[in-house]
Amino acid sequence: MAKPAPKASEQKMAAIVSLCKRRGFIFQSSEIYGGLNGCWDYGPLGVELKRNIKDAWWRDTVLRRNDIVGVDCSILMNPKVWEASGHVTSFTDPMIDCTQCKGRFRADHIQNNQCPTCGSKDKFTEARQFNLMFKTFVGAMEDSTSQVYLRPETCQGIFANFKNIVDTSRVKVPFGIAQIGKAFRNEINPRNFTFRSREFEQMEMEFFCHPDDAPKWYEYWKQARFEWYVKYGIKKENLVLREHEKNELAHYAAGCADIEYEFPFGVSELEGIANRTDYDLKQHTEHSKKDLSYFDEQRKARYFPYVIEPSAGADRGTLAFLIGAYHEEKDGDETRTVLRFHPALAPIKFAVLPLVNKDGMPELAEKIFSDLRLKWNGYFDDKGAIGRRYRRQDEAGTPFCLTIDGESLTGHSVTVRERDSMKQERVPIAELEKHLAKFLTW
Ligand code: GAP
Repeated sequence: MAKPAPKASEQKMAAIVSLCKRRGFIFQSSEIYGGLNGCWDYGPLGVELKRNIKDAWWRDTVLRRNDIVGVDCSILMNPKVWEASGHVTSFTDPMIDCTQCKGRFRADHIQNNQCPTCGSKDKFTEARQFNLMFKTFVGAMEDSTSQVYLRPETCQGIFANFKNIVDTSRVKVPFGIAQIGKAFRNEINPRNFTFRSREFEQMEMEFFCHPDDAPKWYEYWKQARFEWYVKYGIKKENLVLREHEKNELAHYAAGCADIEYEFPFGVSELEGIANRTDYDLKQHTEHSKKDLSYFDEQRKARYFPYVIEPSAGADRGTLAFLIGAYHEEKDGDETRTVLRFHPALAPIKFAVLPLVNKDGMPELAEKIFSDLRLKWNGYFDDKGAIGRRYRRQDEAGTPFCLTIDGESLTGHSVTVRERDSMKQERVPIAELEKHLAKFLTW
C-alpha cells in the first residue's frame, strides 16, 4: 500500500530542518561520527540568530531596566545545591522498558499501553523513576564524594548568590537577577529537532518581591513575556498563554503559566512563568545554614521574598522565531523561500552586491561594506547572477541588499532592496548609514 502523503505541517518542518542544514543554521552535533542524540550545533547563521535572541532578551530584561541585574554562574555547583532544590530526589521521569524491542520510554508518553517501536502492548517492565541530571566527577577520584551534577536549570546559581547580590549591589525589593546559560537534562526521548534537547540554553530571571505583591508581579511578568515574543515578530495568534491546572503545579509553586507556540508538531511550551513563593530561599537557608532572609528598610521588616520566575529556552525561542519567519511564496515561475526575521534578530543585517566585477564597482562595494560593518553584521557577495544572490540573502533572512552598479560610480548612489516587499529604491551613498539605521535600530 502506498505511504500516505505527509501532512502540510510535517512538510513545513522537514523544509525548515533542511534549510537549517543547507544554509548553516543548525547541524547535528558530531555528525561525522553519526551524531549524538539530543545535541545540536549552531552554524555561522544560527549562532548569529541565537546570539541576537539572547542579546534582545538581555537588553530588554537587564540593560533597559533599573530593577534587574545580571549574573553568570558556573555550570558545576556544590551538589548540596541540588539536594536543597529537590532535584536529587524529585527531578525524575517515570521510565519503562520494552522487553521485546529493548526501547526505553517515558511511561506518561505511552498511550493506550502501546509500544511505539515494536507495537507490543504487554512486554513492559514496571515504571522506574529515572533522574534527569547528568553526573560527573571533580578531581582525580571517581567516587560518591567527588560526584557533581551538570546544572539542570540556571536559576539555582541565582538563589545561591542571592545574599552576595543583596550585599554588593544597590538592589532593593522588588528586584530581579537574570542569567543566560547552558543547562543539561538527560531527557529520555529527545525529539522534535532542537525542541527537546539534552544540552540547551536557558534565559531565566528571578524577580524577588514582598509576598503580598507576588500576585501582582506574576500577572505583570506573564503579560510582559508574552508581549516580548510578539515584539520580535511571533504572531499573537500562534501564541497561547496557558495557566496550569492545580494538579500540574510543582509542590512549591503558587501559580504557573506556560507561553506556548504553535509549532508544526503541535502547540508546545516556549517558556514558563512561575510564582515559586519563598521555597528556594528557605530551602537554601535550611541546607546551607546561611540566612537568606531579607531586611526591608521601607517596611522595617525581615522576611523571605517571594520569587516570580520567567524561564525561557533560548533554543526553543530560536526554533520558534525560525518557524515564524519561514515563508515560501510564488515569484513568477519560481518559489521564493524567505525568512522574515525582525531586523533585530536577522543574522545578517545587510549584504553588499557589486553588479559586475569590473569598472571600479568591487572597490566601491568593498568601501561601502567596510564602512557599514563597523555598525552591523554584513555579507559581501560578488558571485553569480544578481537574482540568485538576492535569493540567497532572502533565505538567510537579510533585511537589506545594497547593489552597486554603474550609476553608483557616477551618481554616488546604490540600489537598496528590501527583503519582504522586494521593493528597490536608490539611496545616496552618503545617506546609506542613516537610511539603514531607521530600520536597524530597536
Ligand atoms: N527554572 C525553571 C525551569 O527550568 P522548565 O519549565 O523545566 O523550568 C524552562 O524549563 C524552559 O527551559 C522551558 O520552557 C524550555 O523553553 C526550556 N527547556 C526545558 N527543557 C528543555 C529541553 N530538554 N530542551 C530544550 N529546552 C528546554
